[in-house]
Amino acid sequence: MTDTTPAPRLHRLTVDHLEAPHAVTRTAPRFAWQVRADGGAGVAQASFRIRVVDLVEGLEVHDTGQVESSQSVGVALDGFEARPGGRYEWTLDVQLNQGLAPLTATARFGVAHRDWSAPWIEPQQQPVVAEGPTNPRPDLVVDAVKTVEGVPLSDRLHPPRRLRHEFTLAAAPRHATLRLTSQGVHQASLNGQRVDDALFAPGYESYELSMPVVSTDVTALLAEGDNVLGVELADGWWAGRISFLGRSAQYGDILRASWQIEIEHEDGTTETLVPEPSDVLSSRGPIDWSDIFIGERRDARLEEADWCAVGFTPSDSEAWTPCAAVPMDIALHPFQGQPVRRTLEVPAERVWNAPNGDLLVDFGQVLAGRVRLTVTGPRGAEIRLEHSEALDPDGNFFLNVTGFAKDQADEYVLAGREGGETWEPDFTFHGFRYVRVTGWPGELRPQDMTAVVIGSDLPVTADLHTSDPRLDRLFLNTLWSQRSNFLAVPTDCPQRERAGYTGDLQIFADTASTLMDVQAFLDRWLADLRRDQANRDGGVSAIVPEPPAMGGDFGAGTIFGEIRTPAGWADAVTIAPWSLYQHYGDRQILEDNLDAMRTWVAFQTRQAAEINPARLEAGELSPEQAARHALLWNGSLHFGDWLAPSTMVGFDEMPGDAILRAPQWTSEIVAPAFQVHSMDILANVEQELGNREEAEALRERAAAVRAAFAAEYIGADGEMRPDLQGMYVIALAFDLAPQAVRPRLVERLVDLVHAAGDRLDTGFLSVPFLLDVLWDNGHQDLARTLLTQNQQPSWLYEVEQGATTVWESWYAVHPDGAVEEMSLNHYAFGCVIDWIMRRQAGIEPTSPGYRTVRVAPDLEGPLSHSAAHLDTPYGRLAVTWSRDGDTAQIHVDVPVGSEVTVDLPAGWSAPSDLPLGQGTHALAATRI
Ligand code: BGC
Repeated sequence: MTDTTPAPRLHRLTVDHLEAPHAVTRTAPRFAWQVRADGGAGVAQASFRIRVVDLVEGLEVHDTGQVESSQSVGVALDGFEARPGGRYEWTLDVQLNQGLAPLTATARFGVAHRDWSAPWIEPQQQPVVAEGPTNPRPDLVVDAVKTVEGVPLSDRLHPPRRLRHEFTLAAAPRHATLRLTSQGVHQASLNGQRVDDALFAPGYESYELSMPVVSTDVTALLAEGDNVLGVELADGWWAGRISFLGRSAQYGDILRASWQIEIEHEDGTTETLVPEPSDVLSSRGPIDWSDIFIGERRDARLEEADWCAVGFTPSDSEAWTPCAAVPMDIALHPFQGQPVRRTLEVPAERVWNAPNGDLLVDFGQVLAGRVRLTVTGPRGAEIRLEHSEALDPDGNFFLNVTGFAKDQADEYVLAGREGGETWEPDFTFHGFRYVRVTGWPGELRPQDMTAVVIGSDLPVTADLHTSDPRLDRLFLNTLWSQRSNFLAVPTDCPQRERAGYTGDLQIFADTASTLMDVQAFLDRWLADLRRDQANRDGGVSAIVPEPPAMGGDFGAGTIFGEIRTPAGWADAVTIAPWSLYQHYGDRQILEDNLDAMRTWVAFQTRQAAEINPARLEAGELSPEQAARHALLWNGSLHFGDWLAPSTMVGFDEMPGDAILRAPQWTSEIVAPAFQVHSMDILANVEQELGNREEAEALRERAAAVRAAFAAEYIGADGEMRPDLQGMYVIALAFDLAPQAVRPRLVERLVDLVHAAGDRLDTGFLSVPFLLDVLWDNGHQDLARTLLTQNQQPSWLYEVEQGATTVWESWYAVHPDGAVEEMSLNHYAFGCVIDWIMRRQAGIEPTSPGYRTVRVAPDLEGPLSHSAAHLDTPYGRLAVTWSRDGDTAQIHVDVPVGSEVTVDLPAGWSAPSDLPLGQGTHALAATRI
């Protein structure tokens, strides 16, 4: 009999968390790999060796020698320093135990540019009209920023530009890297072919501080002789409408680009090609306008085929004008991470006429993306597509997000090609499920339209199937909300603000790292957060990148203007790196963010000393009170336990009043609570990095703040003000109550949950901890009840209402189908998936990167089976279990490098040799 067990192999060789990256930023990057040993048992890595060859020089530049270690995550090469602009190949040799054959694999990586000699190139163009409110309260709009009433879009927006640069190469290069950045979003082509499939390059970062440069291997696209580089430039986040206010031109009103091509000749010599600006010709293309909020209009009659191929002669040569060089003093940094791409396609499910006669298309899924259509019709016919996430209770098209310039409409003017034409916008995206179509020539069929899903192209790393299909749908809905919002930056929603809210991200960080490999993506975003923080007084913004219109005296005279460094939002600076470390086990994330965390905690400490709650009269404080308040970061305004149900009563009639209740009622509690939480995290980070004294000092200070918190905000009977579920949850989660009163807090929380009809009353900041707090304090059943609750507000209410994503508010859709003007695609409340994976499916990391894992299936809960897997840094960890009365079968797949401990609920036992090493393990559990 032949053995069909696949032999062990090396898999997913990464450098700084990416496979074969073109431009790593660090000169001392981290290496990682996985050993796959499907079918094996107890396979382990005994040692590894890494050799690095400089591909430009053709020389081996590093050899670790054989290192006796099972480490395969976050491996640093002592003494290796990558050359900026260099290219390398690394060979990994791994020795296994059990006398198994050694493994070898190679992979490549490139390093970011060294210096920048390229000019900034500016095509001739009309600047885009700067417009939009300056203030969240329209009645307070005071300055001259234009409003839009009645002004046609063609007068407010401008056409994207096409840049064409023809250049000659004496010989085809051995290797070539295009490095390109732009003010505006770009798509680049060489000799008529797109250089990559990235969308919305160079991504969205704090452009005013530093511009990201995208590196692409273009070796295969260059030829000896004439070559043409084509760059299409559109407004994107640079000049288009973005964020809360929806103002345009926040970074600039003119589009520009800068690029260089780094060439390696056959003989090993190198050269950097930079364009002479006047040799670059530019014209407007067939797109009349394009804006992320508003949409895009293409007039296909204006198409010039082959505009970036060699030998192109324009029909109107005057339309192509030379560009100018503009001096620009702006920092550059390499774009590192996965680009935005088309990630999925969703076919149209249904085309029909709504009761009011509108022609509608349903894609069956709320998503971020745009429609690709195929149409046959007369030249000049115009099609218009409007996008929305919801229908009203009568089944008519309903715009669930409104506000400044959120039109979400695309327009297409047909060229009238025989045999039909296909179109998808290039530089815009929408958040939608439904499309209202006007102007369609002939009969529209579902097969004429496809929704093209776009987002940062991150690998999905988890799956879950249980005996409750509603939980499975909740899992999928959360994945869809992540897919829709991990788009260049982690955004709140893909249809309204599309802004990098720090709070939303920190709430969702654990779930995000469970559902996708977000390491490189959040690494980049955190780098931007640090740049932004360094540019302030140590505080961290509610949004990263912080839109310029929301800096300075934004919101003066309104509550929004006072919320500058919101608790639980700004704390993303400590929470997100710590979460990433837990999930991925690479200490680099802690080293990179240590200073930013220290600066943030120092900021909280400073504000604590300087600002007391406005309700206190300074003179009236006793010395003890004064000392307490000097420790507590409790004097400023925050978003608080945002959107907690009982703060939102009356939202339909007075939305402004309702939404501001969470800040008004809960700021004073949540801020010092998150202050302690950030101190605790920082103490852990210091400890982890070997800074024991700093850790100790922080723990002592945190103990003092805790004591002050308890004295100020927790009554002797355990009561808190405001008497809301979320306050107890946060106090318990962050361990803010003295041990003696803890049980009273738990009791009060349980009473409040019962009083709410066994329903949650938690907002953004408390919901991530709700179920754990109940579970860890002896109320497992109530945690399960809340999870399976289907009355509003609850997770499964949304699912039973037909949600296909996670809603912004628990009340976004009412039982009668009425839809609030709220986003239906906000991931924050999807943070419960982390809990489900840990406590129901039963996969919980007990050391960073899932090096050790606790498998604790909920055999006492409502599920009779569950099958989950997670692609950890070591490989796939799968836990499948099914329960039948007093027996249960549990299957665990453990990857090489991980170790699993099975922890069954009290009363259950399963004979096994603990802990479990690599391999597939079947356990029969019984209730004893
Ligand atoms: C966003 C949120 C965000 C919040 C801050 C909202 O408009 O959509 O998700 O965190 O503002 O309060």
